[in-house]
Amino acid sequence: MKQVGFVGWRGMVGSVLMQRMREEEDFSSIEPIFFTTSQIGGKGPDIGKEIPLLKDAYDIAQLKRLDVIISCQGGAYTTKIFGQLRRSGWQGYWIDAASTLRMEDDSIIILDPVNMPVIKQGVHNGIKNYIGGNCTVSLMLMAVGGLLEEDMVEWMSATTYQAASGAGAQNMRELLQQMGEAHRAAKDLLDDPASSILDIDRKVAGALRNKAFPVENFGVPLAGSLIPWIDKHIGNGQSREEWKGQAETNKIIGHRDQPIPVDGICVRVGAMRCHSQALTIKLKQDVPLDEIEDVIVQSNRWVSVVPNERELTTEKLTPTAVTGTLSIPVGRIRKLAMGKEYLSVFTVGDQLLWGAAEPLRRMLRILIE
Ligand code: HSE
Repeated sequence: MKQVGFVGWRGMVGSVLMQRMREEEDFSSIEPIFFTTSQIGGKGPDIGKEIPLLKDAYDIAQLKRLDVIISCQGGAYTTKIFGQLRRSGWQGYWIDAASTLRMEDDSIIILDPVNMPVIKQGVHNGIKNYIGGNCTVSLMLMAVGGLLEEDMVEWMSATTYQAASGAGAQNMRELLQQMGEAHRAAKDLLDDPASSILDIDRKVAGALRNKAFPVENFGVPLAGSLIPWIDKHIGNGQSREEWKGQAETNKIIGHRDQPIPVDGICVRVGAMRCHSQALTIKLKQDVPLDEIEDVIVQSNRWVSVVPNERELTTEKLTPTAVTGTLSIPVGRIRKLAMGKEYLSVFTVGDQLLWGAAEPLRRMLRILIE
């Protein structure tokens, strides 16, 4: 059995990974060894079988014994350890949720329902580093990767509606604190059916703008508002999150030589853990909607088409409907007024599952089967 080391299994993505691996009985076919940066000698997670006590995540000699390492510990850990480990001669597989190594030539971005041939070729060619993609990109490709595979797309523009979880566990908590504060400010008026909605609104706006409003993590209010900027400015007016759209999409599908333009605006909204995206797709030619829907649903077993009707859309194409599941609904599919080659779609996906943990456990399966 392969010895597989886990680092960062206690955090949000790591915990979702543990949960999924238990559900899929992934632990039965490996010898798991759990690492820690702070509690060496402590007890590891309950995975339904005996495991050794926690080992030191900075101990290169211990790490070197492993066949595979899966890290959800974050980019700082990868930056500190990965180079040392490889320089020490370690030849094992490194599977990582962090973005640090994503664009390196000797790494592959993993999303096997979309790029299994690229992954298989990588394994065959001796590539050892397999990195999870940006969540928005992975969810977009789970939704419409079929159209790219069929070479139907000239360019794509995404407007995203990204959940708090993408910013971290503390941000999810802060969003709820903000919601509570906003409610508290308006509660008395809200309880009085005769109160004016404009008075209520004034109270809420006052709370949001108050210096005491909890914004340590987001920097600004998200509840009752939105944040049209995610991650750093890369210097050309584009945020790093927006830059990843084209860079990672083309790397995932093996199109870096002739990149398909992908660009748009990434926006944080007050959803908990599902990212949504409105995509405008310029098709290479006019293709009937039923053919487009066929290509989408046949591309993988998690994607489904939600008919472009009001009731079904508001029931099924929302973060509330999708959260905690692997489903990737795609809806609002229609041609835009700009012309028959202009397609509009809306999609939702769980940012912690397909957007983070799921591709990691599936990569491990590919390596051990
Ligand atoms: N960068 C993403 C976000 C999450 O901020 O929502 C990780 O891919």
